[in-house]
Amino acid sequence: MSPLEILTFPEEFLRNPVRPVEQIDGVLQTVIDRMAETMYQAPGVGLAAIQVGLDKSLLVYDITSKENGRDLHVLINPRIIAQEGQIISENEGCLSVPDFRADVQRFAHILVEGLDRDGKPLRFEAEGFPAVVLQHEIDHLNGILFLDRISALKRQLYTRRVKKQLKHQGA
Ligand code: NI
Repeated sequence: MSPLEILTFPEEFLRNPVRPVEQIDGVLQTVIDRMAETMYQAPGVGLAAIQVGLDKSLLVYDITSKENGRDLHVLINPRIIAQEGQIISENEGCLSVPDFRADVQRFAHILVEGLDRDGKPLRFEAEGFPAVVLQHEIDHLNGILFLDRISALKRQLYTRRVKKQLKHQGA
C-alpha cells in the first residue's frame, strides 16, 4: 500500500471544514488503512483526512511509542462536547506544517464523541497528551491549523519562511 500525499501549509484545501462521513463501508475502511500507513510512515502521532485531500470528518491517531507496539485509534465524525482546564502543549508540530514547532494552549480535559471504524458510537474522556492530539486533529477537520493558535508574530515568521522557500523552488 502506498502512502498518501500530505498537503502542507499554505495549501488552501486545509482551510475548508470537512463534511461528515455518511457511509461506513469497505471503501472507507481502505481509506482508513491508507491514512494509518501514511501516518506511521511520516511518522506522526495523528492524521486527519483533510491533510490527505479528503473532504471527510475522519482522523486516525496512535500515541504509543514505537517500543510499545502500535495502538491505532480511528475516529469518525468526532466532536468535543465538553472541555475544561488549560495546559500548554510544548513543541506541538504538524505533518502539514513542516519544520516548525511551537507551544500551544490547549484544554487539559475533553469529552469526545464519535464513531469507531465500524460505526460503533464512542464517548470518552481524554486528558494531557491524548487530549492535545485529539484537539489538534479535530481542529484540522474544522479547517484550523495549530498556527492559528500561536502569536501573530510567530505565525508571520513561519509564513514568511515558507513563502521564501516556495519562491526558491520556483513555485
Ligand atoms: Ni496536524
